[in-house]
Amino acid sequence: FLVLLNNLFAQDKLLAPTPPMGWMSWNFFADNINEKELKKMADAMVSSGMAKAGYNYIFIDDGWQGGRDNKNNMIADPVKFPSGIKALSKYMHDRGLKLGIYSDAAQLTCAGYTASLGFEEQDAKTFASWDIDYLKYDYCHAPPDSNTAKIRYKAMGDALKKSGREIIYGVCEWGERQPWYWAANTGGQLWRTTHDVRDKWKMRLTETWGMGILDILDINVKLHEYAGPGRWNDADMLIAGLYGKKGPTGDGGGTGCTDAEYQSQFSLWAMMNSPLYASNDLRNMNDATKKILLNDEVIALNQDALGKQAIKKISDSVWNVFVKPLANGDIAVAVLNRSNMLQTCNINFSELGLNDKYEIRDLWLHQIIGKGKKWKGTVLPHETKIFRLKITGKP
Ligand code: GLA
Repeated sequence: FLVLLNNLFAQDKLLAPTPPMGWMSWNFFADNINEKELKKMADAMVSSGMAKAGYNYIFIDDGWQGGRDNKNNMIADPVKFPSGIKALSKYMHDRGLKLGIYSDAAQLTCAGYTASLGFEEQDAKTFASWDIDYLKYDYCHAPPDSNTAKIRYKAMGDALKKSGREIIYGVCEWGERQPWYWAANTGGQLWRTTHDVRDKWKMRLTETWGMGILDILDINVKLHEYAGPGRWNDADMLIAGLYGKKGPTGDGGGTGCTDAEYQSQFSLWAMMNSPLYASNDLRNMNDATKKILLNDEVIALNQDALGKQAIKKISDSVWNVFVKPLANGDIAVAVLNRSNMLQTCNINFSELGLNDKYEIRDLWLHQIIGKGKKWKGTVLPHETKIFRLKITGKP
């Protein structure tokens, strides 16, 4: 009876109890997408082991739209998507995958395609009728004030709730109006916190829009208290494996990163519970990229049931050290070398407020590297080490 009562009064079931994972089309294809390529990407997601590792969404980004029909229903571009979106979502679902789609809270999207302002209910119903599982809702061509943003995001959030299908709602106004305070109230399960990621470590002073890994980290890490199961800070796409590819991430000086930098982004995004959206060509991944994206022990931090975003405990010009408690009582500790030189780190876990004795597992080496209360070792420039600490004894 208690269980029944509990179910009756249970809050809305969480749509995103852990951060969504998958592959997003924008960085690799920009708006040159079509059903053939997206199906190939889905096949590669399965054959590469990505799907098994937890990446279960194909997120269609901007560029799929073909306008509206004579009843104002949104339609897909008939040349890019001759079989239609519903057939594509069936293709995904048949393979155990899910499908995300994209629109914008104005008349036009960022890339200039038909968007949803004034058609929220109709478009949400259309997405539901196509068996869509996720909507990324962008904010180009909309007025800058927060009130309008809240109203427009709520209109689509409400429409999705009424659509008859569970559709995860990703708010994408780039953190400009502090969505961590209000996006959940509009129905969002996640919200972008920054401008778009570029394929670079750090912005230069002359650059204004688009951000490097470190720039995004420094904004997103401060927002830990707003994240938790069903509500996530979205630090934008993973750029591992892009290696300076031209296109969206090539803008603003995005000439590519080192594998240590890509590994760092993945480690830090996992620690911060950001959604994990790969955006490289899954059909042609080298071993370094696979090793990063398929690190199941790092993915497990991101998908941990406790849903606690890491907190930065040490911050100086060389070291950033992050701590993330986990559901089984273990603690994840990430050590980032921000400097341009190899550095030796000598850390006492008590400096992080961790006063027990631990067994220390290196999640990049995939092995237990010691026991005790401290770690000493070298870290490459821009590399992030991650340790999973298991309590073995009290102080
Ligand atoms: C904005 C978003 C990106 C991408 C593009 C598509 O820039 O922030 O993530 O969706 O629009 O046009």
